[in-house]
Amino acid sequence: MNLTLRIWRQNNSDTPGQFVDYKADDISPDMSFLEMLDIVNEGLIKRGEEPIAFDHDCREGICGTCGMVINGTAHGPLGATTTCQLHMRHFRDGQSITIEPWRARPFPVIKDLVVDRSAFDRVIQAGGYISVRTGGTPDGNAIPIPKPDADLSMDAAACIGCGACVAACKNASAMLFVAAKASHLNILPQGKPEKDRRVLNMVRAMDEEGFGNCTVMGSCEAVCPKEISLDFISRMNRDYLKALWRNR
Ligand code: SF4
Ligand code: FES
Repeated sequence: MNLTLRIWRQNNSDTPGQFVDYKADDISPDMSFLEMLDIVNEGLIKRGEEPIAFDHDCREGICGTCGMVINGTAHGPLGATTTCQLHMRHFRDGQSITIEPWRARPFPVIKDLVVDRSAFDRVIQAGGYISVRTGGTPDGNAIPIPKPDADLSMDAAACIGCGACVAACKNASAMLFVAAKASHLNILPQGKPEKDRRVLNMVRAMDEEGFGNCTVMGSCEAVCPKEISLDFISRMNRDYLKALWRNR
């Protein structure tokens, strides 16, 4: 496959960026999207040019670092798929592909396609944990958890913190991420003691980081590579209102 890439280049968040065109020739349809970028970078390095900076780690859809906007869609055209799991067979020979970083004020550009997602870490630090009691390891069956609760919690825990939901939202809202991270603990008995504090603190941290409000457009759910449901936002809103009432 021969492709024309239009890629966002930017030195840092203090300097303006611009699109630069590159040719990607002899690309195998079986390559992943990141392998295609590796090939382009090898060519740039051979020519003595600066390679394109992009984030990645596991390349298995687990770590959540590989986010980029491909032809206007966070993580590209294939549903429920991270950029690293997207393959070139989903594009056409001769196609032009525009590649941009996440665009949201709380995610400043570090370089090219790499953004700083540490705002998510600070939201997690505000409440995305449970207290660990010291002492012997409790028996695995000591706290029975109904299967529907375990399944629901696991669905929420599938969130990999990639930030696509923020990038896709016209308000740069992080509600889907925060709802997933709060819910996966709030649903389980181990998360109940800190349930109110967790939801109040995580929502406060989310607001302080500058993420916008949810207007239930559903763009977040549509691009989420882990198919996190909007229902978790409703659940978090209910938990938040109850916590406000109990702590008034
Ligand atoms: S909710 Fe989905 S899109 Fe948002 S951070 Fe989690 S995995 Fe990524
Ligand atoms: S590189 Fe880890 S999810 Fe894509």
